[in-house]
This record gives sequence, structure tokens and C-alpha cells, in this order.
Amino acid sequence: METIQFNLPQDRIPRVWYNILPDLPKPLAPALHPGTLKPIGPDDLAPLFPMSLILQEVSMEREIEIPEAVRQIYAQWRPSPLFRARRLEKALDTPARIYYKNEGVSPAGSHKLNTAVAQAYYNKQEGTTHLSTETGAGQWGSALAMASAFFGLECRVFMVRVSYDQKPYRRALMEAFGASVTASPSNQTESGRAILAAHPDSNGSLGIAISEAVEIAAKDPNTKYSLGSVLNHVLLHQTVIGQEAIEQMALAGDDPDVIIACTGGGSNFAGLVMPYLGRKLKGQSKARIVAVEPAACPSLTKGRFTYDFGDTGHLTPLVKMHTLGSSFVPPGIHAGGLRYHGMAPLVSHVMDLGLVEATTVQQLDAFAAGIRFARAEGIVPAPEANHAIAEAIKEALRAKAEGKPRTILINLSGHGHFDMQSYIDYQAGKLQNYDYPEEEIAMALAGLPVVE
Ligand SMILES: Cc1ncc(COP(=O)(O)O)c(C=O)c1O
Repeated sequence: METIQFNLPQDRIPRVWYNILPDLPKPLAPALHPGTLKPIGPDDLAPLFPMSLILQEVSMEREIEIPEAVRQIYAQWRPSPLFRARRLEKALDTPARIYYKNEGVSPAGSHKLNTAVAQAYYNKQEGTTHLSTETGAGQWGSALAMASAFFGLECRVFMVRVSYDQKPYRRALMEAFGASVTASPSNQTESGRAILAAHPDSNGSLGIAISEAVEIAAKDPNTKYSLGSVLNHVLLHQTVIGQEAIEQMALAGDDPDVIIACTGGGSNFAGLVMPYLGRKLKGQSKARIVAVEPAACPSLTKGRFTYDFGDTGHLTPLVKMHTLGSSFVPPGIHAGGLRYHGMAPLVSHVMDLGLVEATTVQQLDAFAAGIRFARAEGIVPAPEANHAIAEAIKEALRAKAEGKPRTILINLSGHGHFDMQSYIDYQAGKLQNYDYPEEEIAMALAGLPVVE
């Protein structure tokens, strides 16, 4: 038999998260207070986050110990499997070797549970009783709902309107875990009411839902806010993916030439690639690292690298990132988790340093790739992950055209079992591509805060 799974036993769940900040050739730009434009300190963030997460946000420790209680919950699905996609390779008739790290095996359906468990744990430790959050695809909301149930926290989720309508079963899953779910924009917050007054039919966006969730937390001392991507501590928690992948690729006796992941806020990408990038900076890996974003929301490839708000209602600090402007509401593509106007400051920074590359994929190409993958490998990927798969297939076909083998590693960030409506619509020919909405983005960029 040909080996297709390269798996680790439970005791190989990583003991630390890998923090790349001390290994970077240039430090990250600090987050700024939107009023004073001075770097923010831990106290500025204290109304929103527990102190242990705030300290992780700025930590310069290379390794941060994973609490035993978090590792114990990770054991419900970690170490996640690494597959060699031999059937996909055959279907493509490529000399490339394709591997995928399957984060879709988490009980909530994606990589998001890696940070949800950690965030719920630290909040519980510090006496938080309620969490508020946003969700785009519904994957993050499901993950935080499950983690909240495990730690006895109340969880309130603002779900982007277009996803709320597209994915009723995601909402049901969050509710099954005990969370309460509100479509965003809603009339329950000032930020939501302001958007609805201007755009009564708004599809919503991650930027708007973040404003609503932040507002709820800022106004209630018992509620903290929890973010599913973008921030350093969120990306940090995801590094269990890359650390496991490094060991698993060694089991396979292989080493990636190209590493590919999709980017919405940057967390599954960072989770897989930062441990590899750490090695690359030490000369131990030559892998090309590729971020894949939707053509409809191309922050890394078309955005400006500058200070902007993380949310549409301008309640968050200013962070330096690739942004399309915080008022930009991306078209209603089905990869809801990729509809974010900005990008993680850490991912933006390594992109600016030329350490990683970025490219875009159109919606129809992403779904075509997802179907191809499903027919070969038997897993229906989340629409977000389809973007990574589409780029991996392109790379494998390039290998074929050049007659040169190469090793490709993909992050399969989640399964698509709650996204079947989008597959129904795709198969019925109802989905469309969206061109880069140049005029809208120009308008949103014109409204960027003046900092530098
Ligand atoms: C399955 C899946 N992949 C990827 C993403 C994109 O987020 P990030 O860039 O933080 O990994 C999401 C976001 O919701 C998601 O649900």
C-alpha cells in the first residue's frame, strides 16, 4: 500500500506556541491609540481582552507554553492529520507531490478552534463570564461557541448578514453549543444602527460585525471581546499547525518547496507558515510561501500598507496592515471568512519584508478547484480553503508543464459541510466572479486615517 497519512500520536501535540516576533529582521509597527496616535499600552486594551492575551500580543518570548488544560482539549482532534493527496496528483497527472494538513477534522470544522480554546481558557482564568465576537463564515463563531461551552462562558455572536442568510445550519450549530447569534448589522448596537440607517439592505461585513461585538464588550464589564483572526495572539495560537506539519513532513521524508494557504485575516496562513518562516530565516528551509486571497477582496495584493482601523465603526486601535479601507464592504462572495478589508499586521509585515508572496483567485475558479479536490480526495473543503487548493492545483500543473517535480504543502483550513448551499449554487451556475471593485476601494482608501 502507498502511505497517504503521516500522523503523530497524542503526546506530540506541541507544548509551546511559536512566536516569530523575536526572529524577525525588523520589528512590527506598534498599534496606535486612535485619539492620541501614540502607541497603545496594555491598559488601553484591558476593557476588551484578558491581560494574559494582551501580554501575548506584545510578547518577545520565542516559545510560549501551552497550558495543560488547553492541550487536553486540543487532544479532541490534534495532532491533525497530514495527507499526501495521491489521488489528486494522479487526477492532475502531475509530477508534483501534494500534501494537505487537514484542520477540518476539528469538531467545529476548522482551524479556528485552535485559538478559540486558548482564548476561552484565558478569559475563564481571569474571571470573564461573557464573550462577544463576530463571525463571517460561521466557522469562527462555531469554534468560540464550542470553546465557551467547554469553559462555561456565555457567548454572543454577531454573524455577518449574508452568511446568516446563506448558512442557517452554522447558526444552528452555534446555538447547539449554547451561543446566541444575531445577524449583523443589527439594531442592537449603535454601530449596527448607524450602518442600517445608511444602508438598510446591508450584506454586512466582518468589519461591521467586529464593531458590534467590540461595542458590546466595551459597554459591559463582564463581557470581553474575542477575535478570530488578525491579532498576534490569535496567529500565535495557530502555530500548532505548522509545528505539527514540520514533524509530519519529516515522517513523509519530504520537505515543502511551496507552502500555500488562504488569507482572510491571516490566521490559518500564519499558523502553517510561521514555523516554516522561522526556519527559513535560519537558512533551514527554502520554501516559497504563498498567501491566496479572493479577487473580490484583495487586501495583500491591491491594498495599501498603512495604518487603518480594524473595524468599520472605528472602535478599534489603528494597526499597520495591508488594507482596502475600513469602509469597504466586499462583494457577497461565499468565502465569508475572506471578506475582511484588512490583513493581520504580522502577515502584512512579512509580506512587506518580501518574505512571503500573495496572489488572488476568482470565486468560480475556487469552487472548480474545490469540486476537483472533493472528487479526488473525498473531502468537500470550506469555500475559503478552496482558494488555497486552486493555487496548489495551478502550481501542480506548472510542475507538469515544466516537467519538474516539486513538493506542495496546503493548509486545508476547514471542511465545507455547512457550506453546501454555495456548492448547490455553484453547480447550478448561479455564482459569479467579481472584478476587483476599483472605484469602491479607491473611495474607501480616500477615507484612511492620516497617521504618517
Ligand atoms: C475555513 C476557513 N478558512 C480560512 C478562513 C480565513 O480566516 P484566516 O485568514 O484568519 O485563516 C476562515 C475564516 O472564517 C475559515 O472559516
